[in-house]
Amino acid sequence: MKLRAPEPAGPGLRPAPAASHTRGVHTSSHLPPPPELRPSRRRFLRGVVGAAAAAALPGVLRARTGTAQAPPAPTPAGPAGQEGEAFWRGVRERFLIPPDRIYLNVGTLGPQPRPVVDAVVATVRRVAETYPPGVAWDRIRTTLGRLLDADPAGFAFPRNTTEGMSWVAQGLELQPGDEVVTTDHEHIGGLCCWQLLAARRGVRLRVVSLPDPAAGPEETIRRVRAALSPRTRVLSISHVLFTNGAVMPVAELARECRERGIVSVVDGAHPPGLMPVSLRRIDADFYASSAHKWLLAPQGSGLLYIREDWRTRLWPSVASGDWDNLALGARRLDHVGTLDESRFAGLEAALAFHEEIGPERVYARIRSLRDRLAQQLVDLPGVRLVSPARDLPVAGMVAFRVDGMDALGLQQHLARAANVRSRVIGEYGYGWMRLAPHIYNAPEELDRVVELIAAAR
Ligand SMILES: Cc1ncc(COP(=O)(O)O)c(C=O)c1O
Repeated sequence: MKLRAPEPAGPGLRPAPAASHTRGVHTSSHLPPPPELRPSRRRFLRGVVGAAAAAALPGVLRARTGTAQAPPAPTPAGPAGQEGEAFWRGVRERFLIPPDRIYLNVGTLGPQPRPVVDAVVATVRRVAETYPPGVAWDRIRTTLGRLLDADPAGFAFPRNTTEGMSWVAQGLELQPGDEVVTTDHEHIGGLCCWQLLAARRGVRLRVVSLPDPAAGPEETIRRVRAALSPRTRVLSISHVLFTNGAVMPVAELARECRERGIVSVVDGAHPPGLMPVSLRRIDADFYASSAHKWLLAPQGSGLLYIREDWRTRLWPSVASGDWDNLALGARRLDHVGTLDESRFAGLEAALAFHEEIGPERVYARIRSLRDRLAQQLVDLPGVRLVSPARDLPVAGMVAFRVDGMDALGLQQHLARAANVRSRVIGEYGYGWMRLAPHIYNAPEELDRVVELIAAAR
């Protein structure tokens, strides 16, 4: 591995000094939260969370939290995939989305359910009351480790995928002439960090063109492999493409990279909350994500998972107390000054909400909604799906073109006709329409959107 990595500490990082004047310097955000602010997962879905979070506050505040009493959560009538629509209607009521709004853009930002909003509000109030709530770092890490099949100690918390990817790009110390291989389906949030290094340090970017129409994993692996060279230091690729929902064979690519001494960096903005993820199995060097997408956490809930051998080697991009305390591993990266603690309270509530409904139930419901949309669209004359066919790995999103209609025009039409929020993939000149459903969407909403598309042609 040639990443200027002096042993034993890694690229440019000396072994931690025995003592440091910064050691032990903490902000209030590094304190654990007081027990009364710890969320009870059960309570969240029982519909008393607005009240639960407020109940943790002194009485005078309780009256002023303004949190609506959420309706009780329904009990699922069957196993994942067979809950019945009444259950999902009850889930929808846990959200603040107005009844006449058809929100199909979780790929950009997930709407926060009430328990998350309540947890955020309660924390903001607590801070205003001058009681630092603290951050439940260990509990959040443990839950993430369970959900994403990962070592809890490997998580750091940037604000979003973009920041996580930038922490990696800035922390690796690439040199002029070093090559980064990526694809022509990357989001700016996972791409610009490498473009910056190209402009500033003479790093070379090599862009693999992925198949259109989307093909299977073998073709992707073949194309990426063909682009790797002895100069390649990094492979940076999305786990799920934002353009069309195709799932990339990141575990296979990470293994290939390891064999060749190439650092694997996965832009995992989408999969957590959308589909089962095993970070152990993927075993990439870095995996960046945004829990404010499919996990429905508050904006600013980024995640960066760091493989064990990098936790003491990656340079932090922001330095504060303990930045050089290698014993802290990935946690060194979280010392970035004063934090918005409400976002962590919201993240914890979002993880509890997800686990309470049940990850398998959530994934199955998203899959079924997505497949319903894709199937109806593929049957419409003049519509060409650019997402992979159902027998190929695909998750969450449906992207398509409509003959004779430009995607922006269609987006505006849907917005005006039925208050639909969608996303146009204008990047790379693709001009596709993307729809991304989640558990708060009703099948009838999707049918209505398909009807509108059919009528618009
Ligand atoms: C694949 C991918 N990577 C990165 C991002 C950027 O996410 P964030 O704005 O949370 O950093 C997005 C956002 O949609 C994305 O789809």
